[in-house]
Amino acid sequence: MVIITAYLIGSVPFALIVGKKAIGADVRNFGSGNLGATNTALVLGKKAGLLVAVGDVGKGALAAMLPSLLGLDVNPVYTGSAVILGHCFPVFASFRGGKAVAPTAGVLLSLNPLMFLSGYITFVTMIFITKYVFIGSLSIGIVLTIHSAAVGENALIGLFAIFSLLMFYLHRSNIRNFFSGMEIKITDKNIDKY
Ligand code: G3P
Repeated sequence: MVIITAYLIGSVPFALIVGKKAIGADVRNFGSGNLGATNTALVLGKKAGLLVAVGDVGKGALAAMLPSLLGLDVNPVYTGSAVILGHCFPVFASFRGGKAVAPTAGVLLSLNPLMFLSGYITFVTMIFITKYVFIGSLSIGIVLTIHSAAVGENALIGLFAIFSLLMFYLHRSNIRNFFSGMEIKITDKNIDKY
């Protein structure tokens, strides 16, 4: 039951809610078409993107804390996995959601703040160097799989290895666009804004 609850929490589509409230439209019809903070920021501006990021990170953190909040003997890695899957394949948004990054950060924030920090530093550094958000996102999965293996966090190694593969799959359009020179850089001005 708590795992289904975590999936439903993950399914709350903050990018859709913020987009509908701000412009009465679905952000998936603009920019990269992704239902996430990056696309919301590109299409609607930094404030809206930040709002979505806080919501998406927050739902990840909340779901990972659910077992202890409810006093249940359930490994939070399960509720953490369920919230990420809910975010990517949301029942409340036709199963077309985000790319796993923000809720994964939230799960980490509550399960292992040190790993959250290592993921965050990786994300920011890679974006700073490459100017591509998707490279920052994909680097998180790789670095955290290595980090969890290095510190022997067995449950997390599996989580990151699987979600790293899922992230590559969900970012396939970014990878394609990158190789055809079409991927948007954070410094690009000519984007499909609302
Ligand atoms: O967090 C998602 C990011 O890695 C890519 O988003 O909108 O550029 O496809 P987007």
